[in-house]
Amino acid sequence: MARLKTAVLISGRGSNLAALIRAAEAADYPAEIALVVSNRADAGGLALAEAAGIATAVIDHRGFAERDAFDRAVEAAIVDAGCTLICLAGFMRILGAALVERWSDRILNIHPSLLPAFPGLDTHRRALAAGVRITGATVHLARPAVDDGPIIAQAAVPVLPEDGEADLADRVLAAEHRLYPLALGLLAAGRVRVADGRVRIDGPVDWPASPLISPVPE
Ligand code: GAR
Repeated sequence: MARLKTAVLISGRGSNLAALIRAAEAADYPAEIALVVSNRADAGGLALAEAAGIATAVIDHRGFAERDAFDRAVEAAIVDAGCTLICLAGFMRILGAALVERWSDRILNIHPSLLPAFPGLDTHRRALAAGVRITGATVHLARPAVDDGPIIAQAAVPVLPEDGEADLADRVLAAEHRLYPLALGLLAAGRVRVADGRVRIDGPVDWPASPLISPVPE
């Protein structure tokens, strides 16, 4: 089985990157993490990639006058590395519509809420302020709008009465680390179809998911 070369774009800590690297260590995982791109030289995730023997590139957005030139530089690094899929994993730059459209249905994003609720920044603070009892994480195909696009998988996480932002972020992050490998695995295996703006998953989901993760094993 050919493993699809995947680039992971980060800006920080890289805990989701670490989850993807771990999943891709399994011989039967359909994706290989072949490149990590960061727009920040001080992103902690770069060291995780280097420790795993994965190529890294730092492309500082401040060196580019135009968003499109930054996007082109990122894309060139991804293409040079032979990658055909992109995972956004805490990448805090907005990719331009032209790049997102060129890579349509080949860019995944993870966001720490049950989209379409709470897109954008300060997700957990807004979820707490809204008083929701359940929040979670979403992996979706990227579209030009921020945190928008057809949903591949979601995980639900309870909000507990005493939760502060950090408590909630930690609980959601643990779910993210299970969800992202599931979603990338489905996409890389060619099992994600988009019809009428919604994702259909081909075949049963054979994954040790919690009942609160959808799609669940059948
Ligand atoms: C994650 O919680 C991810 O969902 C979030 O940034 C964090 C990155 O953590 N992404 C967004 O909010 C995108 N809108 P990590 O660097 O440890 O993976």
